[in-house]
Amino acid sequence: MCGIVAYIGYREACPIIIKGLKRLEYRGYDSAGVALLNGSLNVYKKKGKVTELEDFIKDKNVHSTIGIGHTRWATHGEPNDVNAHPHYSSSKGLAIIHNGIIENYASLKTDLQMRGHKFLSETDSEVFIHFIEDIQKHNQCSLEEAVRLALTKVVGAYAIVIISKENPGQLIAARKGSPLVIGIGKGEYYVASDATPIIEYTDEVVYLNDHEIAVISRSNLAIKNIEDVPMTPYIQKLDMELDSIEKSGYDHFMLKEIMEQPKSITDCMRGRVISQKAHLNLGGIQQYANKLVNAERIIIVACGTSWHAGLVAEYLFEDLARIPVEVEYASEFRYRNPVIKEGDVVIAISQSGETADTLAAIELAKSKGAIIFGVCNVVGSSIARASHEGAYLHAGPEIGVASTKAFTAQVTVLAIMATIVGHRKGNITESKYRELLVDLENIPGKVEKALQLNDKIKEIGNIFKDARNFLYLGRGYNFPVALEGALKLKEISYIHAEGYPAAEMKHGPIALIDEQMPVVFIATKDNSYEKIISNIQEVRARKGRVIAVVTEGEELITKMAEFVIEVPSTNEVLMPLISVIPLQLLSYHIAVMRGCNVDQPRNLAKSVTVE
Ligand code: AGP
Ligand code: GLU
Repeated sequence: MCGIVAYIGYREACPIIIKGLKRLEYRGYDSAGVALLNGSLNVYKKKGKVTELEDFIKDKNVHSTIGIGHTRWATHGEPNDVNAHPHYSSSKGLAIIHNGIIENYASLKTDLQMRGHKFLSETDSEVFIHFIEDIQKHNQCSLEEAVRLALTKVVGAYAIVIISKENPGQLIAARKGSPLVIGIGKGEYYVASDATPIIEYTDEVVYLNDHEIAVISRSNLAIKNIEDVPMTPYIQKLDMELDSIEKSGYDHFMLKEIMEQPKSITDCMRGRVISQKAHLNLGGIQQYANKLVNAERIIIVACGTSWHAGLVAEYLFEDLARIPVEVEYASEFRYRNPVIKEGDVVIAISQSGETADTLAAIELAKSKGAIIFGVCNVVGSSIARASHEGAYLHAGPEIGVASTKAFTAQVTVLAIMATIVGHRKGNITESKYRELLVDLENIPGKVEKALQLNDKIKEIGNIFKDARNFLYLGRGYNFPVALEGALKLKEISYIHAEGYPAAEMKHGPIALIDEQMPVVFIATKDNSYEKIISNIQEVRARKGRVIAVVTEGEELITKMAEFVIEVPSTNEVLMPLISVIPLQLLSYHIAVMRGCNVDQPRNLAKSVTVE
């Protein structure tokens, strides 16, 4: 993880870097630091959030028009001032910021120590900059060449930016496995882990590719690959609005993102679902569409919330397209020697498109001949680029660490995909197909209605905010929703929560139920409605406190549950898009009431680019 920002140009670099780092804090917030050049090369760094760094540099001379900055998510060495980036080289003539992991850092370090290098931190990243300096000294070569030679020797993932006292008009950036975007201004350049620190200055960007090295001066951007072959930078226009990365009056990004779901789902369906014309299409899936339609089985790989969306997709594809689906935790799949045949279909789901485990699972499947469909939110992300084809979510930037609008957009895209395949295979009748299209179009309005329950859900949250445990139970399409509800609660409020298939409860978790235990049932009217009523009774009989998400007009459960949350009804296969909304709001309010940092929960980061 980690966020990287760098600037070279004619403006004051420090404020640009600090502002950019704040935008990237979702990627990590263990420590922050900057390195600025003004005659000397000065590094300032501090444990904690970017605001701590801001306080620390208040009275320092930070005037400079070139600098690099970093917000860290620690992998090697605890979060403290010393392990914070940037790291100096031995001579203090170079400094580096690094995102990723250098796997062979230990052997490189031993080697360098034998050659007299002294290390201050426990990080792998510091080894990198000593190594570069060592190469430059021994080969008497340019910094650019030393960086290139170092990169041919390091094993692992990196996005780096290097600043040098000897080359005061130059930044060197490189990537392999971790993202880097270069913003192009007039007489100035920006470098960042994603486009959010850049968007207010320029909309022209170059996404650096793996194994590319960029040498950036105030007037020029030169990119070469690791074999030293010059590459032509591919300049793209950014399609992002500043408003989409600001809180716009909300207390937290998470609340903003929950509330904007009617819009994000609409954006996700724009041009793809037009019921009047019986039109359903995903423009990104063309060349390999037949592979998907004729797949004998589909393997879905993802992590966290995206994995939950994958579970919903299992129900969707099996129901609508009659294709068997296996949903895999990417981290397990990649190390399990999975059976993948030439032409098998893999769907990789990832909001960030940078999750290391998912990316590695894709590479493994690809090496065995699978066709990869990526479902990503971040345009140009590594997973999007590693896939053969795919569909973007178009949900807009998701900044809160807890994923909300990405989940609903993922389910929307996957529902569209499954419907297209089911229709083309002739498993869905024409009338059911048309009905599904109308149901899809009606989802944003229904989500809007579910969001109007906010005050009521806040009251329920207030009653249960001090609970130590929660159970979330659902069946069928609502089972993945139960898992997602539990994940949302634990990650932002630090309350232990488990999601379970409601009927599985009696095989173990029922032992946990007593008069203290809140049990959230997702019990909307569907195929398993009657069955789940029995499960509610079982919890009531053991004095558990039942909170039930039900369909509007529900009567039976209203009499049994202590609290009911009534959401609009929809086609069973689309229900997760609506039933998840109250669970997002419940976790949000509980976390706020417990004084937790909702947007940046402890120990977590938005995109997990390490194993
Ligand atoms: C969700 O709230 C999480 N913070 C996390 O589980 C996330 O979904 C997971 O890390 C996968 O991320 P991705 O979608 O960017 O691949
Ligand atoms: N490995 C580096 C560190 O621990 C960078 C971490 C990262 O990018 O996640 O400081």
